[in-house]
Amino acid sequence: MNLSVILAHPSKTSFNNAIAEASVSELRKNDHDIIFHDLYDEKFDPILPKEEIPKDASLPPEIGKHCKELSAADGIIIIHPNWWGQPPAILKGWIDRVFRPGVAYEFSEGDKGEGVPVGLLKAKAAIVFNTSNTPSERELEVFGDPLEALWKNCIFDLCGVTSFYRRMFSMIVTSTPEQRMEWLREVREVMNRYFPRAEQPRMNQ
Ligand SMILES: Cc1cc2nc3c(=O)[nH]c(=O)nc-3n(C[C@H](O)[C@H](O)[C@H](O)COP(=O)(O)O)c2cc1C
Repeated sequence: MNLSVILAHPSKTSFNNAIAEASVSELRKNDHDIIFHDLYDEKFDPILPKEEIPKDASLPPEIGKHCKELSAADGIIIIHPNWWGQPPAILKGWIDRVFRPGVAYEFSEGDKGEGVPVGLLKAKAAIVFNTSNTPSERELEVFGDPLEALWKNCIFDLCGVTSFYRRMFSMIVTSTPEQRMEWLREVREVMNRYFPRAEQPRMNQ
């Protein structure tokens, strides 16, 4: 399978970075074709210029490449910390520029944009790993778990990816090395569950 892994965290020593490493190495073990983007490392420019807004806009090569990869992905894995109930701005900008009309969604003929868009992504599943320092009950009860609504409803469901799994690891700041090891084991288990190794065709004797 073609799998796209996107990491948005500025520090190589972060737990997010460890989640990305665990995800990519497990997916490689399962013989998938992985495209990995560390958005900070690549200095992704998150600013959507007005010229890129129209559906038929001509795109800078690096944005066109991201769009092609998104369209071709059989699975999408997103990894980022909870920053104010939102993704880091670099990842928000990646969504703005890459989840484009004609790539991730489109409006039916005659719909000027007031209707319900049609999702265009062919990915079979989207996985989102988040980290935070808020207990999950408080995140839900006090803040309404905005990252769940954002990724599940506003983005992947709208763009046609209905198999969705999200896990928020919390609380990072007080976690022990043992807890983190266990969380990384869970990451690998999720990767194996959603993206197992393809069965080999049986050889005729
Ligand atoms: C700008 C910023 C905003 C943050 N906002 C929140 C927040 O709204 N809720 C929360 O639980 N933690 C928040 N945090 C804490 C991060 O979620 C936490 O440091 C991160 O998940 C730890 O993972 P890491 O070791 O990979 O950095 C924030 C941190 C930063 C730097």
